[in-house]
Amino acid sequence: MNSNLQNLFKAAQKKERLGVGLMSGTSLDGLDIALCRFKGNGLSTVFELLEFKTVDYTDDLKHDIRQIFSRKMVDLEKLCILNDYIGDFHGNLVNGALKGWAVDKKTVDYIASHGQTIYHAPKRLHGQPQYPNATLQIGDADHIAVRTGVLTISDFRQKHLAAGGEGAPLALYGDYILASKAGEDRILLNIGGISNFTYLPADGDGQKVVCSDIGPGNTLIDAACKKYFDKDYDKNSAIAFTGNIDHSLLKALLAHPFFEESLPKTTGPELFNLEYVERAQQLSETKGVAPKDLMATLSAFTATVIANTLYAYNAGAKVFVSGGGARNPFIMQHLRKLLPDVLIAKTDALGIPADAKEAILFALLGNEAICGEPIRIGKNPATLMGKFSFPI
Ligand SMILES: Nc1ncnc2c1ncn2[C@@H]1O[C@H](COP(=O)(O)OP(=O)(O)O)[C@@H](O)[C@H]1O
Ligand SMILES: [Mg+2]
Repeated sequence: MNSNLQNLFKAAQKKERLGVGLMSGTSLDGLDIALCRFKGNGLSTVFELLEFKTVDYTDDLKHDIRQIFSRKMVDLEKLCILNDYIGDFHGNLVNGALKGWAVDKKTVDYIASHGQTIYHAPKRLHGQPQYPNATLQIGDADHIAVRTGVLTISDFRQKHLAAGGEGAPLALYGDYILASKAGEDRILLNIGGISNFTYLPADGDGQKVVCSDIGPGNTLIDAACKKYFDKDYDKNSAIAFTGNIDHSLLKALLAHPFFEESLPKTTGPELFNLEYVERAQQLSETKGVAPKDLMATLSAFTATVIANTLYAYNAGAKVFVSGGGARNPFIMQHLRKLLPDVLIAKTDALGIPADAKEAILFALLGNEAICGEPIRIGKNPATLMGKFSFPI
């Protein structure tokens, strides 16, 4: 028998597994690495976060990825090279992290790699009914497996697409398993490049769980910050706080049919980008808005879209926030102002550190891929996601 399969078989029979979750979202800020221990699987999963770090991408790598990221026309050779390069690179980052934590690689059962998102094209974006919902993450997992010597599970979104979903958001599986609480309506809100939420009903009924993208998270704020201030992001909202919200522009930004569409839905920077902002500026005749006012307006827009969605969906649920946006004080303050009666806390209150949450969720999907059973949650396909890459 192929010794890889033997090892996989052994890992699947263990009472507990050690898994590394890797996440790099549309913000292109870096690679999140979470070392987790899981006991059991499915609704009886017990998880522990042992280590976590984010390794920032270098400016050169960000520049490289931006050339092929969220663009219709790209240099295909660059895409091909980066697919393998990022796989190698992520593998090396895992090696470095494990070494730094003094964790013996032989004790790690698997790596679960999300990959670097390059393009997300649900039908509503590409508008071609004869073609399916589609998405593309790169960073080839065979490279990660060979670099690290650890079984690597990757490309989780394709199974979701193949089984009838939009390939996102995948947070619902982990959110439902790790954060449901009897007697409490909860909303888990993640503010990454794009914002998404999972609604967890108080009665724990999986059929009532809803998970959907909301709209822009940090993506527009980051893009404008890069363009007008040559910074990757507006640290602690330092720029946005010096500006004023332009209400005509805000109204124009909010007037997009995406926000009227029913849930669940998915989106990306393919829709929410600086062209989107420029169109809204044209429509509202605010092309001359000062860059700092633009930053305030985009930050308010981001928070308003989130507040509108959460309010319309369930105004009574407690909200637990994760992702880099939880560190953006303008977004958080504005959210609290718009939802004065809603309890808003970070997911840390649930024992899930806000920065690590997405990487933990992929580690959990890896655990499910090895030893889980398909779970039907809401309108999502009941599938076990992820492809297996063996080290030898
Ligand atoms: N101190 C901070 N102040 C403002 N924004 C922050 C701060 N820290 C992180 N962010 C935002 O969070 C983003 C990263 O969020 P993350 O959850 O990693 O998103 P993704 O999943 O898309 O990678 C950054 O690009 C930045 O916009
Ligand atoms: Mg990130």
